[in-house]
Amino acid sequence: MYAAAAFKLLKSRCVCSRRINKRLVSYVLGIETSCDDTGIAIVDTVGRVHGNVLESQQKFHTRYGGIIPPRAQDLHRARIDGAFERCLKSAQLQPDQLDAIAVTTRPGLPLSLLIGLRYARHLARKHRKPLLPVHHMEAHALQARMEYREELQFPYLCLLISGGHSQLAVVNGPGQLTLLGETLDDAPGEAFDKIARRLRLYILPEYREMNGGQAIEHAAQFSTNPDAFEFPLPLSQQRNCNFSFAGIKNNSFRAIRARERLERTPPDGIISNYPDFCGGLLRAVSRHLMHRTQRALEYCLQEQNNRFGNATPTLVISGGVANNDVIFENMCHLAAQYNCRCLRPSKRYCSDNGVMIAWHGIEQLRQNRAASLRPLADIDNIDIAGSASFHESAVSLVQEASIKCKWIQPL
Ligand code: KG4
Ligand code: ZN
Repeated sequence: MYAAAAFKLLKSRCVCSRRINKRLVSYVLGIETSCDDTGIAIVDTVGRVHGNVLESQQKFHTRYGGIIPPRAQDLHRARIDGAFERCLKSAQLQPDQLDAIAVTTRPGLPLSLLIGLRYARHLARKHRKPLLPVHHMEAHALQARMEYREELQFPYLCLLISGGHSQLAVVNGPGQLTLLGETLDDAPGEAFDKIARRLRLYILPEYREMNGGQAIEHAAQFSTNPDAFEFPLPLSQQRNCNFSFAGIKNNSFRAIRARERLERTPPDGIISNYPDFCGGLLRAVSRHLMHRTQRALEYCLQEQNNRFGNATPTLVISGGVANNDVIFENMCHLAAQYNCRCLRPSKRYCSDNGVMIAWHGIEQLRQNRAASLRPLADIDNIDIAGSASFHESAVSLVQEASIKCKWIQPL
């Protein structure tokens, strides 16, 4: 009798909590097609991932040595509907259970962005759901909050390093990022991809499936003499937080050519000490990233103008290049010198994915639900943009502050 009553009570509690959950938890669909990954995910307001489908086009593009935008568009178009269906199925949800649809609208390859936006518009109209436009780099910057939750409060400093970007920004919330510095030419991921290709790492079977950054990180593990090659230290005379990777890239091309001549490397061969080359390259990139981030940290911690406010001083790194353990460890080492935490999202969420887009949608809803949920009639006013800046820029303020740093060396 007692057991039966307890069971009944327990059952009613379960039903009740499920009801509460259903009432309190919103599901947001995220659609990412800014470059060469078709990402579709469903995330709830508590940060639980219910479905996450990621279709990479990397295998196709590496065959041609780079992304061909019209081909990337075709692949997104061919895959997006299947990816959505699989995502719903794995989440065991119906479209009418979704509360909103978040989609990357900027920055990115316009042809790729268009496919995501058109598909999102189609779903929004069909299922009468609001559409939330997402800034791709902001989504990278906010992603760590999905996993760290209350432990990671705004504002924090974020280093965004990917295939298309290199930026330092203070993150105050969705739509509220202040740029401190950015690359003047190439992005670090782009440089890694081009150098790995020039080095012909793809010849080696173990690297065939990897992107350039992964291949370089892997090869660098076997380096015994990372000082065998010399690399420049870009922008060392400029007291700002900008980046430049073109010098490191061009220097790499020259060094590889010189070594190939010396070793008489055949056109389908690879220089013998490629691990040392990769070790030195990774060290040079880490050093440059550290220097620029060090000045950003000093700028944010300035007594008269503390950018962290009451929040625990935190450096977050995100974007595909944040997968790199050498770079992450160096950033943690740097942050520690300033009594600052250093965090990154889980590796699967550092690179492009649909989860970060859905999470940005949730952050938008949390910030201002009413303003985020536009009426369906507004959907046609949402458009794509190949390039997009942040809400504000403090690049010139950083320059004016002219902060001189005592450099922390890489590990
Ligand atoms: O953020 P992401 O997935 O796409 C863009 O928005 O660009 O970043 C892709 C970039 C690629 O250039 C790739 O070489 C780089 O991230 N990457 C890495 C690593 N894994 C991916 N770079 C260095 N080390 C890694 N382990
Ligand atoms: Zn990205």
